[in-house]
Amino acid sequence: MAFFASVSVTLLVLTATFFLIPTAFAYGLKAVLCSVGWSLRNKTNARRELILSQVRAEEEQHQSKHSASLASASASSPEDDDWEKVDSTVPGVAGNGKPLGEDWEGIIGFFHPFCPLSHKTRSNAGGGGERVLWAAVKATQERWPKAVCAIYTGDHEVTKAAMLERVETRFNIKLHAPTVVLLYLSTRKYILSSMYPHFTLLGQSLGSLIVAFDAFNLLVPDIYIDTMGYAFTIALSKFLFPSVPTGAYVHYPTISTDMLSSLDDSTGIKGLNSGAGAGWKGVAKKKYWHIFASIYGWVGSKVDVVMTNSSWTSAHINSLWGPSRKRLEHKNATVVFPPTAVSELHSSIDVSSSSESTREPSIVYIAQFRPEKNHSLILRAFARFVNETRNNNNNNDKITASGSTPKLILIGSVRHSSPDETHIYHLRLLAHELHIRDQTTFLCDASWPTILSHLRTSSIGTNAMWSEHFGIGVVEYQAAGLISVVHDSGGPREDIVIDLGDGATGFRASTEEEFAAAFEAALALPEQERVAMRLRARKSALRFTEEEFARKWIEEVAKLVSQCRKK
Ligand SMILES: *[C@@H]1O[C@H](CO)[C@@H](O)[C@H](O)[C@H]1NC(C)=O
Ligand SMILES: *[C@@H]1O[C@H](CO)[C@@H](O)[C@H](O)[C@H]1NC(C)=O
Ligand SMILES: *[C@@H]1O[C@H](CO)[C@@H](O)[C@H](O)[C@H]1NC(C)=O
Ligand SMILES: *[C@@H]1O[C@H](CO)[C@@H](O)[C@H](O)[C@H]1NC(C)=O
Ligand SMILES: *[C@@H]1O[C@H](CO)[C@@H](O)[C@H](O)[C@H]1NC(C)=O
Repeated sequence: MAFFASVSVTLLVLTATFFLIPTAFAYGLKAVLCSVGWSLRNKTNARRELILSQVRAEEEQHQSKHSASLASASASSPEDDDWEKVDSTVPGVAGNGKPLGEDWEGIIGFFHPFCPLSHKTRSNAGGGGERVLWAAVKATQERWPKAVCAIYTGDHEVTKAAMLERVETRFNIKLHAPTVVLLYLSTRKYILSSMYPHFTLLGQSLGSLIVAFDAFNLLVPDIYIDTMGYAFTIALSKFLFPSVPTGAYVHYPTISTDMLSSLDDSTGIKGLNSGAGAGWKGVAKKKYWHIFASIYGWVGSKVDVVMTNSSWTSAHINSLWGPSRKRLEHKNATVVFPPTAVSELHSSIDVSSSSESTREPSIVYIAQFRPEKNHSLILRAFARFVNETRNNNNNNDKITASGSTPKLILIGSVRHSSPDETHIYHLRLLAHELHIRDQTTFLCDASWPTILSHLRTSSIGTNAMWSEHFGIGVVEYQAAGLISVVHDSGGPREDIVIDLGDGATGFRASTEEEFAAAFEAALALPEQERVAMRLRARKSALRFTEEEFARKWIEEVAKLVSQCRKK
C-alpha cells in the first residue's frame, strides 16, 4: 500500500514538475506580459492623441493648400491630386475613385528599422524590400484614407519630408504625406548581425525584441505589420497586446528548410553551409538550427495574416509555420508578388511584328557577377550553340531565322574591390578559351538607359542560377518582350516562366546541352510564333505590376482591419 502511495505521490510530483509548473509559468508570464502591454498602452496614450491631432492638422493644411492651388491655377496640374486617384480595380473601392462607405480610422504600425540606402535606382539592384514597404503604404492609403501609417524606423537623420521625397525619386511612389508618421527607434544596433558573431540567428532575433519593445514604447498600433522578416517581434506584440491583429510580409524565412538540409549536403552546390554538418561542431550546429527552427515555427502561430513574396517563400513558410497555424482563421500564406517596374517597360518597349526587325539574335543575361549566378554555364552553353550552328551552317548556310551572328551580352553590377572583380576576370578568360570572345560583351554597372536599349534590341533573356528565389530580372525580360531561357528551378520555374493556359512563355533548361538547345530553338522560331511568344510573356509579366500588388495587399490587410473592428 505504502509503496503504491509513494509511487503515485512521485508520479504526481513528476507531473507537476513536467507539466503543471511550466504551464503555470507560461500562464504567469503571459499575464505579466499582458499587464506590461497594458501599462505601455496607458503610457503611450498621450503620444497617440498628439500624433492623431498632428495628422488632423497636417491634413487640414494639405486640404487648404490644395484648394488654394486649385483656385490659383484653374488649369490644375494633374500630378497634385495623384494620390486621390484610386485604382478602380482595387477591391472595396468604387469606380468613381471614392472608397466605399466604411472608413477605418486606426494606426497601422510598420516595423522597418532599416531603409537600406543604395545608390542604385533599379529594383533589380537591391531595395526590393524597401519598395514593398512604400508600395504597401501607398495601397493602404488609397483604400483607407483615414488610416495612419506609422513606420518605426532607425534612420534618425532622415526627416519625413526627405524620406517621402526619396521614395518618390527612387521608386516613383507618391505618398500622401499627412497620414504617414515616422517614429524613430534608438535601439536599432541590437539587430545588426555584427553584434552577434556567434549564434547570429538567435542573437538577431532576440535583439529584434529589444527594438520592438522600443517601438511599442513610442506607440502602440491598432494593427502591427512586419515587412522585414522580424517575426519574433510579432510574437512579442501578440503577448503584449493580444487584441492587436498582426501581419507579416515575408521575403525570406529566417531559417529555411534548405538551410537545414544543406548541412548534410556534400556536393558543395548548396551554398555557404554546405556539408557543415560533419563532426561534433556540425552536430551541435545542426541541433542549434533545429531548435531555432522549432521556436521560429511556434512564432508562426502568432501571425494572423501571412503574405510571402513568392511561391518559393510560401512553400518554406507553410512547411515551417503550417503545423503551428492549424487552428488560426487564415492558415495559409498568400503569395503577394512584390511590385516591379513592368509598366515602365511596357510603355517604353514595343513588341509587334514591325519591331521584330529591330531585334538582333542576341542573348542578354542581367545578373550580378557572382558565382551563384553561374555565368560560366551560359558561356559554355553559348559556345556549344555557336559551334553547333557553325557546323550546321557549313551544310545549309543558315544560322538563325534572321541570318546574323548571335551575340551574348552579360550585364551586371560589380561590387568594387570584392571577389566579383576576379570572378569577372575568370569569366573573360573562359570566353576566350571557348573561342566566343568576339561574340561576348561584358557590361559592368551599365546605366538604366543602356540596359533598356539592350532589352529593346535583343531576342532572348537568360538566367542560369540554380534555385533562384524569384528573379525580378526574368520578369523584366518578359515585360520587355524577350524570350526567356531560364534555369528550370526556383522562382523562374514556379512563378515566372509558366504557361498561363495559352502557350509557353519561354524555355527552361538545366544543363549546358539543354541551354544550348533552347537558345537554338528560341532563335529558330518562325516569326509569327516568335512574336506570339513575346506577347504571351509580356502578358504574363502583368501579374507583377504595382496595381496587382496593391489589390492583393489590400485584400490581406482587409482581414486584419475586420479583425480589428470585431473587438
Ligand atoms: C495611466 O496613465 C495616467 C496618465 O497618463 C495615469 O494618471 C494613470 O495613473 C495610469 N494608470 C495606471 C493604472 O497606471
Ligand atoms: C523575396 O525576397 C528574397 C529575399 O530578399 C529575394 O531574394 C527574392 O528575390 C524576393 N522575391 C521576389 C519575388 O522579389
Ligand atoms: C491551404 O493549403 C493547403 C495545402 O497546400 C490546401 O490544401 C488548402 O486548400 C489551402 N487552404 C486554403 C483556404 O486555401
Ligand atoms: C553551374 O551549372 C553547372 C551545370 O548545371 C553545375 O554543374 C555547376 O555546379 C553550377 N555552378 C554553380 C556555382 O551553381
Ligand atoms: C564543335 O563541334 C564539333 C563537331 O560537332 C566537335 O567535334 C568539336 O569538338 C566542337 N568544338 C567545341 C569547341 O565544342
